[in-house]
Amino acid sequence: MACPFSVVVAIDFGTTSSGYAFSFTQDSEAIHMMKRWEGGDPGVANQKSPTCLLLTPDLRFHSFGFAARDFYHDLDPEEARHWLYFDKFKMKIHSTSDLTMETELEAVNGRRVRAIEVFAHALHFFREHALKEVKDQSSSVLEGEEIRWVITVPAVWRQPAKQFMREAAYLAGLVAPDCPEQLLIALEPEAASIYCRKLRLHQVIDLSLQPITNGLDLEGSQPFDSSDRYIVADCGGGTVDLTVHQIEQPQGTLKELYKASGGPYGAVGVDLAFEAMLCQIFGEDFIQSFKAKRPAAWVDLTIAFEARKRTAAPGRANALNISLPFSFIDFYKRHRGQSVEAALRRSNMNIVKWSSQGMLRLTQEAMNELFQPTIINICGTITLDLPEPLPLPGAVGGAGGGGPERREIRATMQFGDTEIKVTAVDIMSNRSVRASIDFLSN
Ligand SMILES: Nc1ncnc2c1ncn2[C@@H]1O[C@H](COP(=O)(O)OP(=O)(O)OP(=O)(O)O)[C@@H](O)[C@H]1O
Ligand SMILES: [Mg+2]
Repeated sequence: MACPFSVVVAIDFGTTSSGYAFSFTQDSEAIHMMKRWEGGDPGVANQKSPTCLLLTPDLRFHSFGFAARDFYHDLDPEEARHWLYFDKFKMKIHSTSDLTMETELEAVNGRRVRAIEVFAHALHFFREHALKEVKDQSSSVLEGEEIRWVITVPAVWRQPAKQFMREAAYLAGLVAPDCPEQLLIALEPEAASIYCRKLRLHQVIDLSLQPITNGLDLEGSQPFDSSDRYIVADCGGGTVDLTVHQIEQPQGTLKELYKASGGPYGAVGVDLAFEAMLCQIFGEDFIQSFKAKRPAAWVDLTIAFEARKRTAAPGRANALNISLPFSFIDFYKRHRGQSVEAALRRSNMNIVKWSSQGMLRLTQEAMNELFQPTIINICGTITLDLPEPLPLPGAVGGAGGGGPERREIRATMQFGDTEIKVTAVDIMSNRSVRASIDFLSN
């Protein structure tokens, strides 16, 4: 069937950052990524733009991304209180159990707006940006209906959340509600999976792990296809989910072998833990009033934390410095009549120290503590049930050719920087067993 669309624009609407890419159906392998936008943060490499939206005091769209953040940042604190700034708002859609088109979101200043409008403003912004870029790249004049739009959503989102995204896209004018097929709501891990299919094996497997590759010809670097099964671990800012996929032959389509499992255990959990730690040291009421009265400085502090967060690693022994904005130090002194250094001492937080250069020094223990709740959630909750029986460890094939005795094993995977730890439990006896999983052939 001939494709009625001449261009596909896909929007990756992320919790912390978002972006889009497009390709012309005539040359679908040539993917055009969103052009780098102005702005960016020290110490942080970014291909996407932060998912931040700024509305004027009379609720009109003002800006999105770095522009929104920087404009809000530079507003006079008195004036900023009237503006509506939203960031990291995507997860609200997942966490709201009775999500409707009337569900509201709260801006930093406490004012509430219908969530669907917030999403629609953001999508509309991407629409404008993408259309401009598509038109710049296209030799012919494009009609609106020639464009297919794709919006990716986490695999663990329930139907109402997916429908919400669709409605937001209608409201944003991406497509008309009477042309629903012009908009595809795709699952993030499926998009990732399709991308991985295009990779060559040597790009997927760490070549230093030769022994586990079971003689596969990595040198030849064949495409990642045939009927390989693989796990897609999609670790984002908002959600982490695992899916097992297989490529079906000969048609080359993607089959979901095991349903996505996971949840809202993304990396923003670490940011929330940092905020909770600040509340513990300086008092929750102080942090709340600092955020409301000195929004710009709060943004600075979160940017400083983001850069340090990315350099944290389990094996790192030295402390990480996070510079406290001058206005934090000053605001604290004025409100509490004492220095931040005194607050730190009084809090008995031995794992956070004060450096005379105006920095919080987060020791290795402190960093571990910030990551731990998120990591525990990921490890503890994401379990892949492999319903297909695996051989009982140690079992040998029966003499009569009946094959090895097979038992059902539940495997839990823990993802580290470079390794995956697997723990396995024999479902019948509920005992831990040793299991080795060959990620390549099975
Ligand atoms: N090296 C790193 N160490 C720790 N955290 C990191 C690192 N690099 C990125 N992050 C975190 O990952 C998150 C961003 O990831 P990503 O862009 O995939 O999320 P997203 O697309 O915005 O979220 P989602 O897809 O879940 O909605 C941020 O919270 C960021 O702090
Ligand atoms: Mg994402």
